[in-house]
Amino acid sequence: MNSSNPELVILNGTIVTANETFKGDVAVKDGRISMIAESLQDLADSLSNVEGVDIIDAQGKYVLPAAIDCHTHLEMEFGGTVSSDDYTSGSRAAICGGVASYIDFVIQRKGESLKDALQRRQVLASAKSCCDYGFHIAITDLNESILEEMEEVVKLGVNSFKVFMVYSFAIDDEIFAKILNRAKAIGARVSVHAENLGLLNMLTEKYIAEGHGNDPYYHYLSRPEFCESEAVARAVHFAKSFDAPLYIVHLACKDGVEEIIKAHEQGFTQIVAETCPQYLAFTSDVYKRPDARNFVCSPPMKGQESQDALWAAINSGQISTVATDHCPFLSTEKDWGKDDFRKIPNGMMGIENMYPFMLSSALQGRITLNKAVAVCSTNVARLFGCSTKGSISVGKDADIVIYNPDTKFTITHDKMHDCCDHSIWEGMELQGYPEMTFVRGKLCFENGKFKGEAGYGKYLVREPLQSVAFQP
Ligand code: URP
Ligand code: ZN
Ligand code: ZN
Repeated sequence: MNSSNPELVILNGTIVTANETFKGDVAVKDGRISMIAESLQDLADSLSNVEGVDIIDAQGKYVLPAAIDCHTHLEMEFGGTVSSDDYTSGSRAAICGGVASYIDFVIQRKGESLKDALQRRQVLASAKSCCDYGFHIAITDLNESILEEMEEVVKLGVNSFKVFMVYSFAIDDEIFAKILNRAKAIGARVSVHAENLGLLNMLTEKYIAEGHGNDPYYHYLSRPEFCESEAVARAVHFAKSFDAPLYIVHLACKDGVEEIIKAHEQGFTQIVAETCPQYLAFTSDVYKRPDARNFVCSPPMKGQESQDALWAAINSGQISTVATDHCPFLSTEKDWGKDDFRKIPNGMMGIENMYPFMLSSALQGRITLNKAVAVCSTNVARLFGCSTKGSISVGKDADIVIYNPDTKFTITHDKMHDCCDHSIWEGMELQGYPEMTFVRGKLCFENGKFKGEAGYGKYLVREPLQSVAFQP
C-alpha cells in the first residue's frame, strides 16, 4: 500500500457533530481523521482494489464521534468484592456500545502515593484494555505530600481528582477545601460524589431499626432528594467561594440541578455537572421490583420530577455530560443484602447502553442528535482535556461510530458484552443502533460482533485545564 493512502474511507454518511449535521465523506490515515469532504468518491474509486484500504458505504447512516465514558469503575474493589467487569470485558462492552475511550477511577489506598496508585491501575489497564483509557484519581488519604504530588500526576496526564462525601473513604470539609484549592492552582478539576453522609446514616439506621432491611426501596428512602441536594449545594458553595472548577458526578435530583443553574446564572461557569443514563431512563419505582437489589446504586434513582429536571437541563446545556458510572456486581453479590440493604454492593452496569439510549432518545425527539453527541463525547473531551477525541474533524482520532437510525433494537443482556449477569436495560426498545465502532481507525465492532483486542487501548494523557468554561 502507498504510504500516502488513507486506510479507511467512509462514503455517503451524514456526519453529526455537537454543532452541525451534514452529508460528507471521511478519510482516515494513521488512525486519525485526515480528510472530510462533500465527496471522496473519486479517491475511493482510485483505491477500490488497493490492499489495506477499507471503503465503507454509510448511505442512510449517521457518522458520529464515538462516546467517551468519563465515569467507570472497572475491576474496582468495592462493597466487599470487585466490580465484575475488568479492563478487558468493560472496554469490550464499551466498544460494542459505541464508546471508544473511557476515564476510570483510581482509588488511592490508605498511605499510598498518587503516583503509585496511578501506576497500579495503569499496569492492569495497559495489558487489558481494548480501547483508550484515562484516569481520575480519587484522593482518600490527604496529607501535605499528597497535596504536593497532585501537580506531578497532572503532568502525567491526570487533570481531574475525585472526592467522595460518602462511603468509608468520605472526606471532610477541610480536606475538600484543600483539594479544591490545590486543584485550581495546578490546572485540574475536582469531581465530587455529593450525598450527605450524616443524613443518610441517620435515615438508614432508622429504617433498619423499623425492620425495613429486606426492602431495597428503603435504600432510596434513606438517600432521598434532599440528602443529595444538600450535598450538591454545599459542594457548589465551596467551589463558588474559592472560584474553583468543580464537577458534580452522577447528578440525580431536581434541587441539585437548580444549584447548578443558579451557579451558571451567577457566572460560575467552571462548575459543571454530569448525569447518568439510569437517572434519565428510570425512577425510584425500580426499587419496587422483585429484582430491585440489582439496581441499588448511590445516589439512587429519584422521582419523576427529578428525571424531568435532568432532561430539561441537558436540553438547556446546564448539564454538560452524560456518563455511565459503570460499576456492575453479580446478582449473587447483590444477594448479600437480601435481609439488609446496607450489604448490597452499590453500583450498576450500563457502559454498552449509554450511547444507544441517548441516540435513540434523540431520534424520538427528547434531545437533538447534536446534543447527544455533545454530552456523550464532545463536552467530555473538552472538560477533561482529551484533545484528540470528541469530534468528527480533521486531526482528531478516528474514534467513529456508524449508527443506523432505522434499526429497531431490544436490549437483552444475552446480546451484551460485559461480565455481569443482569441488566436494568433488559427489554428496553431502542430506535437505531450502532453498526460499527472504530477505535483510532481500527474496526472493533461490527453488526453485533466484537472485533477488538485486549491491549490495543492506549493511555490518554489528558491536558491540564486551560479554558473549560461552561457554554450552553
Ligand atoms: O453506586 C455507585 N454509584 N457505585 C459506584 C461508586 C460511586 O459512587 O460512584
Ligand atoms: Zn459516586
Ligand atoms: Zn461512580
